[in-house]
Amino acid sequence: MGYAEVYKSAKDDPEAYWLDQAQAIDWVTAPQQALFDKGNNLYEWYADASVNGCYNAVDRHVENGRADQAAIIYDSPVTDTKETITFAQLQTRVAALAGALVAQGVTKGDRVIIYMPMVPQAIEAMLACARIGAVHSVVFGGFAAHELAVRIDDCTPKAIIAASCGLEPNRVVHYKPLLDEAIAQSNHKPGCCIILQREQEICTLVEGRDLEWNAAIALGTPAACVPVAGNHPAYILYTSGTTGAPKGVVRHTAGHLVALNWTMKNIYNVDPGDVFWAASDVGWVVGHSYIAYGPLIHGNTTVVFEGKPVGTPDAGTFWRVISEHNVRSFFTAPTAIRAIKREDPKALELKKYDISCLSALYLAGERADPDTIVWAQDVMGKPVYDHWWQTETGSTIAGNPAGLETLPVKIGSPTVPMPGYNIEILDEAGHPMPTGELGSIAIKLPLPPGTLPTLWNAQERFITSYLTHFPGYYETGDAGMIDEDGYLYIMARTDDVINVAGHRLSTGAMEEVLANHPDVAECAVIGISDPLKGQAPMGFLCLTKGVDRPHSEIASECVKLVRDQIGPVAAFKLATVVDRLPKTRSGKILRATMVKIADNEPFKMPATIDDPAILDEIKAAMQTVGVATG
Ligand code: COA
Ligand code: AMP
Repeated sequence: MGYAEVYKSAKDDPEAYWLDQAQAIDWVTAPQQALFDKGNNLYEWYADASVNGCYNAVDRHVENGRADQAAIIYDSPVTDTKETITFAQLQTRVAALAGALVAQGVTKGDRVIIYMPMVPQAIEAMLACARIGAVHSVVFGGFAAHELAVRIDDCTPKAIIAASCGLEPNRVVHYKPLLDEAIAQSNHKPGCCIILQREQEICTLVEGRDLEWNAAIALGTPAACVPVAGNHPAYILYTSGTTGAPKGVVRHTAGHLVALNWTMKNIYNVDPGDVFWAASDVGWVVGHSYIAYGPLIHGNTTVVFEGKPVGTPDAGTFWRVISEHNVRSFFTAPTAIRAIKREDPKALELKKYDISCLSALYLAGERADPDTIVWAQDVMGKPVYDHWWQTETGSTIAGNPAGLETLPVKIGSPTVPMPGYNIEILDEAGHPMPTGELGSIAIKLPLPPGTLPTLWNAQERFITSYLTHFPGYYETGDAGMIDEDGYLYIMARTDDVINVAGHRLSTGAMEEVLANHPDVAECAVIGISDPLKGQAPMGFLCLTKGVDRPHSEIASECVKLVRDQIGPVAAFKLATVVDRLPKTRSGKILRATMVKIADNEPFKMPATIDDPAILDEIKAAMQTVGVATG
């Protein structure tokens, strides 16, 4: 069957289609029913089944002839380390760590936070949780202590698994002091912390709370896989929303297993045994789906890469990893390719390596600009597939199903909806837009397996954030259009989310931090175009009356505040003081107009603007910090 037939069969009879796909998973009790309608537009998949995620990712491959196949290839140019872990070794290591958690009283349903860099132990920690039915929540290392504290209070973990340090090219990231600070800030206190002491930094352990990794393992015995219900949460992953409080996206176990397994062949076109590499981080959804679970569930080897596209040590690193580890399918963010292109525009580094093993490059996480796609296609001589997805969906909403049928690439479009995604473009009132016209991208409910059923501890927020604006639909927060061939185009976000180097960030969260500066009366943060990172945040500060300090000093303090509160990943480096912000007569800040000015794009003067002269002041303020407004 080609793409059109498969898409149609999933649309016409989702129940039959998804029960059929479920056969690729090893169940304790197989599902008799695929979709469960919980009322009020809430749905769950495979709720009647019983299964274990770790068994499907690890143990079953050991039992089915893949014991000696590499499960994980760890390649770390920042520590000059390479290590291969077979499925049999992974099973031993994960069972031991799961036993350590059990010895600390962690049982099915308990939450465990994982705060680790890109080391194999991060994947082992995720799988150890899945093995015993604990619900993990991985927190990205680039977030500051405050963000970690917010997550600790929201998901109230019984244990935290962390590393002593991470290694950025320019510095050591001291995880342990950040962890200690977060626990000091949070109201909830975890019972224990299991700490991986890396040789690059041995940290101090807190007596009675912290256990060194091997010491923790020595206290337990290897744990077996615990069956969980199909709708048991596998993990919570926090993502940026409109406000400072992150949204805890919940992923149910069974749907995530079925969906990810489906994508490995149909989208990424890999067969069991092939090497798959997603150059992302375990802290993001790409890391969950395509460094940890997807490849392993499908019997692929996954590459855990601790480094950057450039500077570790050079712009040839990605090509070396592909060539050396025989990578068949490669997934990264457009930013990474832009970074390589900037450093090595003629791709001279690529000439040093044979990448004939590679079938295609997959891009996601942010808009893939045509220049980047064309450059990658030219220098690599491989197809480049853009695909669109979100933390909420866990896998591709629209992509090119290369393993099913390769559809012609239209540059600028992530191609077509995947089975189960019934996409419509709606106007503000929820009416379908004509072909080729821009509107809000909405997905008709129910969403397919693997997508979020709710937000952790926040069912109401789930309903208001996603299901209320367009009744009967999931609101994606993205705007775009569909062309006459059914190809989708993603144009912009409809909310306050921006995308910086493929990292999803909330301008609302940054505004909340800036508003806490004692001299700031009012502020606005917008995402302006950045040639490397796609977007970069910029802050506009209106000072409290009577404040008489150098503006540059206040702006620097604000930059530091965002770094300290949200973290370096926010890449908040541009802030400027202005007298006033452009607003509508009803007081709404005209952020979209400000973005257009910064990006030197034409805009219509908003009819409701209070005082048009402010826009010139804003433009001048942008120019003082080097933003080329034209
Ligand atoms: N732990 C701690 N700090 C981290 C971190 C981590 N895991 N990841 C990033 N940071 C820090 C960086 O050190 C940097 O800090 P600095 O301000 O002190 O320099 C800051 O966060 C911003 O990091 P980053 O976005 O990585 O920017 P960069 O300028 O260091 O590197 C790129 C630019 C393009 C090389 C880099 O952004 C990149 O590799 N992008 C790919 C994005 C990606 O894979 N996204 C995943 C989504 S699919
Ligand atoms: P995240 O939840 O971090 O994966 O971010 C999801 C958001 O990133 C989406 O809602 C889009 O705004 C953006 N995004 C992801 N992939 C793409 C893509 N291929 N093209 C355009 N935008 C994308």
